[in-house]
Amino acid sequence: MQKLTFAATAAMGLEALVGKEIEQLGYEKKVENGKVIFEAPVTAIPRCNLWLRTADRLKIIVGTFKATTFDELFEGTKALPWEQYISEDGQFPVIGKSVKSQLHSVPDCQKIVKKAVAERLKRKHGIAYNMPETGALYRIEISLLKDVATLTIDTSGSGLHKRGYRVGQGEAPLKETMAAALVLLTNWKPDDPFIDPFCGSGTIPIEAALIGQNIAPGFNREFVSEDWFYMKEKYWQEAYEEAEDMANYDQPLDIHGTDIDHRMIEIAEKNAFEAGLADLIRWKQMQVKDLTIKEKNGYLVGNPPYGQRLKDEKEVFQIYHDLGQVMNNHPTWSVYILTAFEQFEKAYGKKATKKRKLFNGFIQTNYYQYFGQKEKGD
Ligand SMILES: C[S@@+](CC[C@H](N)C(=O)[O-])C[C@H]1O[C@@H](n2cnc3c(N)ncnc32)[C@H](O)[C@@H]1O
Repeated sequence: MQKLTFAATAAMGLEALVGKEIEQLGYEKKVENGKVIFEAPVTAIPRCNLWLRTADRLKIIVGTFKATTFDELFEGTKALPWEQYISEDGQFPVIGKSVKSQLHSVPDCQKIVKKAVAERLKRKHGIAYNMPETGALYRIEISLLKDVATLTIDTSGSGLHKRGYRVGQGEAPLKETMAAALVLLTNWKPDDPFIDPFCGSGTIPIEAALIGQNIAPGFNREFVSEDWFYMKEKYWQEAYEEAEDMANYDQPLDIHGTDIDHRMIEIAEKNAFEAGLADLIRWKQMQVKDLTIKEKNGYLVGNPPYGQRLKDEKEVFQIYHDLGQVMNNHPTWSVYILTAFEQFEKAYGKKATKKRKLFNGFIQTNYYQYFGQKEKGD
């Protein structure tokens, strides 16, 4: 198979980070709204699925064409070389979405695409082909945007945020992809001290540790494309070997996770154990007010309660105020807080050096960033 065109999908606001990750894997990319497009050989499927920390999924773009009528959608779909991607016994369910397009009935679009792919495969496999759909899974998506149809096949299976380590969670866990993004948006280096004082189920410290030791986030899970007929076993083996070679298990880390709730600390410990990081992160039950910091030049990254979901506003204001008081005594530390609480800077007691809008699921948040005054020689 020659080069394929891929779309790595991303949460709003994280596209540029996903683009950077793709570039680091050696592929030239184009960053668009909600996705990053790139061309690469088939070996990008295992590599990207294993390595992408901030993308939601990796999809193959089978084709793009204009479609304002069902006929155009049918003919355009049938003209694409589906037999190159889907095995004779392959299952190919079709999901869909339509935005600002004349073809707005998504169930009808799904049915048409299913029919067109089936007809194409029949032409290839002969009259006896009766869509057994007993084999590997090739999930097709028809996505219409301003009358342009894009047809993709998902290579990931469950979303890439499912790393395989989360055995427990609290009330408002952060998606692993978002937690990785929060870490990657800082200037933290693996040798620097790192604290999440609102660690909950431990997602941010765990993602930081994976980044710190350069461990591929997908190392402990499976991907739907592992079963595909053109995904030779050696492609996966080579990607796993590369991941093993690139991991730096000797990198010492100074990562702490603390939380007021002892049940959260137990969950975080279990999740870290599942991630293979049992001895690498130090966990402790503690309220932010009592946080003690001994080192200099560290990074504090946190996703505290927002006042909407977990605690009421007054209580949240006090928590942010406590955090501001504590960090006031540690000017060499950089502080990064994700919250939807509009009064954050007022409560914290200082204007942020920088603010970045991010979506945590459907909640619009700000990522408040305070850059520490670095001291040399510490
Ligand atoms: C939004 S959750 C964090 C979720 C976490 N990022 C995860 O992925 O599981 C906020 C956490 O802050 C903790 N918390 C609330 N008040 C606190 C305080 N005063 N000091 C420390 N932690 C606090 C809660 O127990 C909760 O686990």
